[in-house]
Amino acid sequence: MTQSLDRRWILTSLPAAIAALFGARALASTTEACSATGSDIEGPFYLAGAPRRTVLADAKEKGKRLRIGGTVFGSDCKTPLAGALLDIWHADAEGNYHDAKEQYRLRGQILTDARGRYEFETIRPGNYKLDEGWRPAHIHFTVSSPGHEPVTTQLYFRGDPYLAPHDACGDECHSGDPHRIIPLAAEGSRLAGRFDINLRTSR
Ligand SMILES: [Fe+2]
Repeated sequence: MTQSLDRRWILTSLPAAIAALFGARALASTTEACSATGSDIEGPFYLAGAPRRTVLADAKEKGKRLRIGGTVFGSDCKTPLAGALLDIWHADAEGNYHDAKEQYRLRGQILTDARGRYEFETIRPGNYKLDEGWRPAHIHFTVSSPGHEPVTTQLYFRGDPYLAPHDACGDECHSGDPHRIIPLAAEGSRLAGRFDINLRTSR
């Protein structure tokens, strides 16, 4: 009798227990993999009113040409957000920012397409001195979409010697966050990299 009960338990409950265990594991790994893009300080160089364009550096801008592309997703990290607005700004190859008097040099705004994708071309920014230290090369982004919390963040590049913990920005920037550090690969004569952004749903 006991044996038959045991057999019945094995046949009926064990598969459910295994399914629950694996289901929980799958859920845990999905949760781990999906997180909203973290924020960094805006810093002093943001300027409102940059023009809508996908080429931020004109042909005579010094520096290595760079193409960055990616997708803006919602809080599930898989629903693309069409029409999300990216406001982008960065320093030149020598680490200097430019303003509206220079036609918003190295600044621009981009809307994602119907599949949530964006792309722009610019030059690779340089490192710059901050206080007694240096900042890793970075591109500033503020990304917004209706129904979502906007995020102001920075994109960093793998291999930069000033990534955290050597970033002079300290705790206000997160240049050690692997989600914000991308590798760059040669693409013809330019470099290219991909940066996907996940927005949090508004509360
Ligand atoms: Fe900066």
